[in-house]
Amino acid sequence: MGQYRDAWKRSIESPNEFWGEAAAGVSWYHEPTVVLDDSQAPLYRWFSDGVMNTCYNALDRHVEAGRGTQRALIYDSPVTGVKRAYSYDELLDEVSRFAGVLTSLGVKRGDRVVIYMPMIPQALMAMLACARIGAVHSVVFGGFAAHELAMRIDDAAPKIVVSASCGIEVNRVIEYKPLLDAALAEATHQPDGCVIVQRPEAIATMQPGRDHDWDELIAAASPEPCVPLAATDPLYVLYTSGTTGRPKGVVRDNGGHAVALTWSMPNIYDTAAGEVFWAASDVGWVVGHSYIVYAPLLAGATTLLYEGKPVGTPDAGAYWRVIAEWGVKTLFTAPTGFRAVKREDPEGKLIKQYDLSKFRYLFLAGERLDPETYTWASDRLKVPVIDHWWQTETGWPVAANLMGLEAMAVKPGSPTVPVPGFDVQIFSESGERVGPDNEGLILIKLPLPPGCMVGVWGDDQKFADTYLRHTPGYYLTGDGGHYDQDGYLFVMGRVDDVINVAGHRLSTGEIEEIIASHPDVAECAVIGVADTLKGQVPRGLAVLKNGVDRDHDTIAAELVQKVRDQLGAVASLRQVDIVGALPKTRSGKVLRKSMRAIADGVDMPVPSTIDNPATLDALRAVLRPEG
Ligand code: COA
Ligand code: AMP
Repeated sequence: MGQYRDAWKRSIESPNEFWGEAAAGVSWYHEPTVVLDDSQAPLYRWFSDGVMNTCYNALDRHVEAGRGTQRALIYDSPVTGVKRAYSYDELLDEVSRFAGVLTSLGVKRGDRVVIYMPMIPQALMAMLACARIGAVHSVVFGGFAAHELAMRIDDAAPKIVVSASCGIEVNRVIEYKPLLDAALAEATHQPDGCVIVQRPEAIATMQPGRDHDWDELIAAASPEPCVPLAATDPLYVLYTSGTTGRPKGVVRDNGGHAVALTWSMPNIYDTAAGEVFWAASDVGWVVGHSYIVYAPLLAGATTLLYEGKPVGTPDAGAYWRVIAEWGVKTLFTAPTGFRAVKREDPEGKLIKQYDLSKFRYLFLAGERLDPETYTWASDRLKVPVIDHWWQTETGWPVAANLMGLEAMAVKPGSPTVPVPGFDVQIFSESGERVGPDNEGLILIKLPLPPGCMVGVWGDDQKFADTYLRHTPGYYLTGDGGHYDQDGYLFVMGRVDDVINVAGHRLSTGEIEEIIASHPDVAECAVIGVADTLKGQVPRGLAVLKNGVDRDHDTIAAELVQKVRDQLGAVASLRQVDIVGALPKTRSGKVLRKSMRAIADGVDMPVPSTIDNPATLDALRAVLRPEG
């Protein structure tokens, strides 16, 4: 572990030196003289007097360096049959003209722009155009329903919303525009206008005066140059589920983000300019922000935007087809995608039909890589299969096997070691630091390295309250795990009410709020239960109000539909059971952990604090009728 160990040690002991050197990977209008700014500790900032522009670093500087004809973006859409490559010259032209569109609509530095789009090139262009003029983008995942979009619109208060007429889920056209209209009808805040990409699969009805056609505006637009920005200016807000019903807007700045992502490409992903990098995620998630849009372009690589699924578009050979066709070197996706492929093609027969000679690495994140999926992928692909752990809040990997810095032996089930910059430590519930092989809470000693969240949008206190208050001097990750004797980290799962469904992060509290708002429901609980494909799926339990005598199946179906309508199909809530009572402690706290253990068939002693032990037996019959 020599090279890795040296780099990690230096990053922790001499952060100014380490990140000062890394900052040279970015072009600055004014180079920072301050690297780590601890003047407001525990709220640390990086490169606080630096001046730069993220879009300049992602596009213009590659063109200026003479690489304008190199591919910047490949769009591969099996759901529409469209394939198209954009050179850096072409992408720069599109982005600077869309920046001109935004400016002509009155968007200025610091204004927010909400982007609610499917996986089409315009989504990425809109993000980069915001970065170009210093507007703060907030991308909302397309699988979220109108209510979720409305909440984010109210919180971010955008000047403009950018959307599209529809998305395509395998072979179903999902109209986005009616969802946007419904969200705006619900939201208190109203943007000045909406820019809509009209896709041929569904033409949206436009509201005169408010809605504008992307193509018409861009045809008339003049290109806008990059605006020099403070490194500490916000680049984007990305909402993520926490333990409460309301998502939090994670704020990321420009300078630290560009430095961290630029450093990550050669060191973690072993990817250089000109190579093809494919993050098969969605621009609505942090993986999409960091590794579809920003990092590959900052590194001058070619990024691949895939509008399809691992299976069904058209078959379980989709990954291999795309890798072979475009010469992908590195694929980054979630283990759930691989479980879907394995289910349809257990022997991996389709792999053999494609030329994967350029393929070097498979990186997986978003949920724990279960050893079975690891073994399946590694045996069949014969390339390193790398589990790495991170969160929306951190923006880039906290733990990984750093393929460019020093490749280490893989231990299935472990994302390997902390990435330089992250001082990851394990603490017991009672606040003591614990040694190897002891399970505990995973904390990160402050300061977090560049690229991590710098605050919660619109709520200065919330970042400190949610993440920094638990153990002073440390960031609380919300995950539990341990180190082994060799210093490998194992991340075993969330210790709070956040669940991970097909790599998508959801809050059980948010689903509970929706179920509890049904007029017949007295109280409810939502737990994440193990699922062989999606890792976890939510399951609901509801207690009805006294006197409700409607059919239980009808009510349960209404509850499932309500969650789908308000949160979105992505919640994947398929089952709500109507029960007589929920198990609770004497102080009235619902015993979700005990319910989860029953559903997953895990032995767990009945908590001594339980008030109504008989409810657990009744729940056993509901959650595990097969025994
Ligand atoms: N717009 C509209 N609806 C969407 C959507 C979008 N962008 N994304 C998902 N949905 C819908 C799906 O159509 C599905 O609807 P349904 O219940 O009517 O079938 C529902 O939300 C659940 O979607 P998903 O969780 O993706 O399940 P799936 O069964 O469609 O596919 C996988 C399962 C494993 C194939 C898929 O989740 C996958 O490709 N995951 C791997 C990569 C990934 O996205 N990782 C995320 C973070 S790295
Ligand atoms: P998100 O913010 O959507 O990226 O989700 C972050 C959460 O996903 C983390 O807090 C973990 O619970 C989980 N997660 C992501 N990657 C991994 C991984 N490699 N191993 C274990 N859990 C992971």
